Amino acid sequence: MTTRYKYSNPIPVRIYRTQKEFLNELMYIQSLYQKGGFIVVRLINMNSISELVEKGESGVFCGDCVTLLKDIPDNSIDLILSDIPYGIGLDDWDVLHKNTNSAYGGSSPAQAKSAAFKKRGKPINGWSEADKQIPREYYDWCMTWTPEWTRVLKPGGSAFVFAGRRFGHRAATALEDAGLNLRDILGWQKDRALHRAQRLSVVFERRGDRDAAGIWEGWRVGNLKPVFEPIIWTFKPYKVTIADNVLEHGLGAYNHQVFKENIGNLNNILHVPQGKKDMGLHAAQKPEYLMKMLIELVTIKGQVVLDPFAGSGTTGVVAANLGRRFIMIERERKFYDTIKKRLESQQTDLFD
Ligand SMILES: C[S@@+](CC[C@H](N)C(=O)[O-])C[C@H]1O[C@@H](n2cnc3c(N)ncnc32)[C@H](O)[C@@H]1O
Repeated sequence: MTTRYKYSNPIPVRIYRTQKEFLNELMYIQSLYQKGGFIVVRLINMNSISELVEKGESGVFCGDCVTLLKDIPDNSIDLILSDIPYGIGLDDWDVLHKNTNSAYGGSSPAQAKSAAFKKRGKPINGWSEADKQIPREYYDWCMTWTPEWTRVLKPGGSAFVFAGRRFGHRAATALEDAGLNLRDILGWQKDRALHRAQRLSVVFERRGDRDAAGIWEGWRVGNLKPVFEPIIWTFKPYKVTIADNVLEHGLGAYNHQVFKENIGNLNNILHVPQGKKDMGLHAAQKPEYLMKMLIELVTIKGQVVLDPFAGSGTTGVVAANLGRRFIMIERERKFYDTIKKRLESQQTDLFD
């Protein structure tokens, strides 16, 4: 172990021999500089998001956002940009209901091996009463954090939420019930999407029912190819005119000019293909360019972007590269570690 520790009042200083060593322990950075072959990092109390926000720094936290959000000061965040769990069984972290009906929550051998959709999203033998409660339970789950979002946002600050087509309306209602206003529902249009719709004739053939198979030839069970994902755009109400709010908080309007430069039009459907670098870190990884467009739409340099469901950290990595500060929270250690590695590969941009 080559780490050496030095303490100076009031901020402890820890000295690392290599950047890798430092990044392995990174929680957040107050400042970073080279000295005599060492990388010197000044650290603040690692458990305190509030102190981080007050000191105007960026950081990543591993833990449950429902708890950690409570430590963020009121009216301190300029933008919340988050790809929340959609509640559709993409993985264990995406199961947000208490339904133990295995016809719903179970997984087939094929699903267990699959990289995505590890849990069954729909029941196989009709909908039980417990199955029907799932959208409501998703709303209840959203209500465990939406009031905190409202509290921490500055007046006029936006919250963009990726929330899926099936339960996004529940998330929108929870945000509204917690005090935010709905501005719009944008669409992220993808180039590719998993399309699973079983042929009905095949189901009947397997049952040996050739008549039904013939009648229902050409019909499918499932959804149309899901090439768009909704982005719910809400904002915190302000008490003055929007122009006065812009003067007071720097929030409330959107950057028409930069948005047009970024996407070439002013439509609310954002067509952003997933490039190679937008895949492989997380099953729900979002394109960096999409995050860039949303961040630049409503913030200026120096403002703070919060992502309480950070995944592989796309929001914070992009925010940092755009000169915005970031706070990210991720509960799963393996994704938190991914974020750290990702920040490491971005370090030149981040620390310039
Ligand atoms: C949809 S993914 C985000 C993916 C991200 N947009 C990306 O580009 O990688 C949501 C993440 O929220 C995390 N999560 C779920 N519940 C959480 C909680 N209560 N607190 C913090 N993170 C949570 C999951 O572990 C998951 O990684």
